[in-house]
Amino acid sequence: MKNSGCRGRPDLSALETARADEAAGRLREAVAGVRDWLTAHPRDPEGLALMARLALRLGRAEVARDFAGQTLERDANHREALQISASAFRALGDLAEADRIYDRLLGLDPANPSAWNEKGNIALATDRHEVAVDCFRQALSLIPDHPMITCNLGLALGHAGQHDEATGVLRELVKRRDSPAEAFDHLSAITALRGDMPGADAVQLAGIERFPDRARSYLLLARLRSTISDRDGAAEAFRQCLRLDPGNREAAFVLSTMGEGETPETPPDEFYAGLFDYYADFFEWHLKEKLGYCGHDLIRTSVEGSLGPGRGLLEILDVGCGTGLCGEAVQPWARDVDGMDFAPKMIRQAKRRGLYRQLEACSALDFLKRTDRRYDLVVAADVFGYIGNPLPLMRAVRSCLRAGGHFCFTAELGDVARFGMGEHIRYVFHPDFLTTAAAETGFEVMSRDQAVMRHDGDEPIRVEVLLLAARD
Ligand SMILES: C[S@@+](CC[C@H](N)C(=O)[O-])C[C@H]1O[C@@H](n2cnc3c(N)ncnc32)[C@H](O)[C@@H]1O
Repeated sequence: MKNSGCRGRPDLSALETARADEAAGRLREAVAGVRDWLTAHPRDPEGLALMARLALRLGRAEVARDFAGQTLERDANHREALQISASAFRALGDLAEADRIYDRLLGLDPANPSAWNEKGNIALATDRHEVAVDCFRQALSLIPDHPMITCNLGLALGHAGQHDEATGVLRELVKRRDSPAEAFDHLSAITALRGDMPGADAVQLAGIERFPDRARSYLLLARLRSTISDRDGAAEAFRQCLRLDPGNREAAFVLSTMGEGETPETPPDEFYAGLFDYYADFFEWHLKEKLGYCGHDLIRTSVEGSLGPGRGLLEILDVGCGTGLCGEAVQPWARDVDGMDFAPKMIRQAKRRGLYRQLEACSALDFLKRTDRRYDLVVAADVFGYIGNPLPLMRAVRSCLRAGGHFCFTAELGDVARFGMGEHIRYVFHPDFLTTAAAETGFEVMSRDQAVMRHDGDEPIRVEVLLLAARD
């Protein structure tokens, strides 16, 4: 044992050694030292708090939470333990508890900028954008001009719809030498949200000039360019991203769709999920104003053609619900509509419509495989293009349908024998393959139509709209 008490007073030198180890980055040695210390002084709040902090730094959030909790049992107002406890709860996904702890901490220490900043981040993550703005302003009143907190304020203002101020804050920030790279990302996203795609591209390029080794900047640039069908520009940005981050599956996948490698039958979830998450804020504007999108209307027309006018009786699942356009289109038939989408920001946008019974951010297959619910109608507007091989999805939909249930979806047509990657980084299908797939997965075709669902540039995008009935 390295340490011993002296006339009832602990010898703090062992803790000092552990702190010195921590400061020198020797975290494991520091943990060993504190462990010895706690064997001799199991109730000492300073030792418990130090162990909590080390655990947090080592990514052991549960251990950090427990040691911070033990510290607080001995000293309920231990500020560092409160801060660690909140961070640990946040890391464990319990944002409500983390938020409560920050409130307690700020009650004791209202001049704690880090607590205000963290509280702001929690508010952002839970879509309380005005609260986030207030928290970041409080933090900045304590440490004016702090680059990361200023960046957070810009992001929060953007989410709160205060685009002018957000743009102003971020524009000033990116001029500064200490600007974080994320400031360029946020400014670019807000510029895109306002419909200025070339401006958004230029901001991201300026970020790259400042942070030339940051793969994420290239990734975001590539996504931005993909959304406006700038194929060559996107490819170049994905290549640069892959150069800096060779394990990036998204970049590797997209480049494979362009002939640089082999395209898989099923894409990695993170590619389209990431793309749509990025896309969510300006999705509807872009779809409706720029692409003339009408997938949801095609579904409505098809459902009406086969099922007749809506009488509000059906339990409906909207697969890949996006912002909820399709859920809204099938409302007349719905007793209840559930939605799922693997892009969390899409789910947040869909929630704002207030029409879904349940919304979940997860992959379509995961949802369908684990849900106990049975549906009368499943719809998927403009989703097959991001799924690849549709057979697993169709089988999973079939097993979630009640007897007599229906599945209505659109699928982009292309010059392929069965299905394959099309020109626009979406999978395309042969119409005969879709009917064969329907028969193979337990469906009967009730109706099939072809229509233009959107435009890419001047090119009309033709889809097959299929309404299938579950066979007994
Ligand atoms: C083009 S949007 C269409 C959204 C909506 N259905 C509509 O008509 O507006 C495609 C949506 O499908 C989602 N998506 C694609 N593949 C998915 C998958 N495997 N699991 C869950 N969601 C998926 C995307 O995140 C995106 O929101």
